[in-house]
Amino acid sequence: MTRAKVYVTRRLPEAALELLSRHTDMEVNPGERSLTRQELIGKVRGCDAVLCLLTDTIDDEVLAAAGPQCRIFANYAVGYNNIDVAAATRRGIIIANTPDVLTDATADLAWALLLAVARRVAEGDKANRSGLFKGWEPLFMLGREVSGKILGIIGAGRIGQAVARRGCGFAMKVIYSASRPNPELEAATGARFVAREELLREADFVSLHVPLTPATHHLIGERELAMMKPTAILINTARGPVVDEKALVAALRTGRIWGAGLDVFEREPVLEPGLAELPNAVILPHLGSATEETRTRMGLVAVENILAALDGRTPPNGVNIKEALAARSGG
Ligand code: DGY
Repeated sequence: MTRAKVYVTRRLPEAALELLSRHTDMEVNPGERSLTRQELIGKVRGCDAVLCLLTDTIDDEVLAAAGPQCRIFANYAVGYNNIDVAAATRRGIIIANTPDVLTDATADLAWALLLAVARRVAEGDKANRSGLFKGWEPLFMLGREVSGKILGIIGAGRIGQAVARRGCGFAMKVIYSASRPNPELEAATGARFVAREELLREADFVSLHVPLTPATHHLIGERELAMMKPTAILINTARGPVVDEKALVAALRTGRIWGAGLDVFEREPVLEPGLAELPNAVILPHLGSATEETRTRMGLVAVENILAALDGRTPPNGVNIKEALAARSGG
């Protein structure tokens, strides 16, 4: 019996590849870089399923190249703004993602950034290594207190809620803005639902947890930064283009806000000019889900999505299942 043909666009944790190879005829990009667009188009041709990354742009041309037999593109990420889901749906291709398994790792990293910026952890480490520590001083490298402050969460999905829950451990008052109130979050944290403008004006820490869509592109720009307290800190572990990076660099440079902790960037891996020189920004190379345990779980979830689709079962994390299946059956 011929086995389903599956292409994996980059090496993943071994457990995921081992599971996939047990059930399919799998090929993995062995290289240390993402495929070029032409390489990707060539590799997906004739595949029954593709396991892709957030760094792969999956548009109609790539989906068309895969061919009509292709059942699923399983993204190795919770965010899937790199995929044209409408085009996939029209072609009857299921798109799947990896929610839940990376919630805690990403919330932990948002908190690592929050603490690092507030308490000048990266700056202090650098100063110490370069011999600037001359002994304890009353006014040396003063940061901002975290405990008891106001934590503003924009986007009350799984990761936003997990970040808010951690705020309770620091006795923080939590406020949030979202498309609708979230009673579960309010019950767990005492959070108060507020308009985005109110949140920006009140919060000491603003943490972003929205998906990247046309509506959230540059959600935080010059106008929003101007509303924030001069002592406020912005944290972004969502997607880079949610923040207008040029406006952010200007706000950090002029002290319009106190600091920023960023794990994602507008044109990854390229940084906005000036950002890397700012001492009040902590900038990480997109590490939100980067723990061994989480990356393995993400791989297993992506593989389970693929195996289900190939078996004619419902993939646990399809984002367009009903519509894609309807299109496939000509409905
Ligand atoms: C995601 O899953 O969307 C994350 O950005 C990956 O770390």
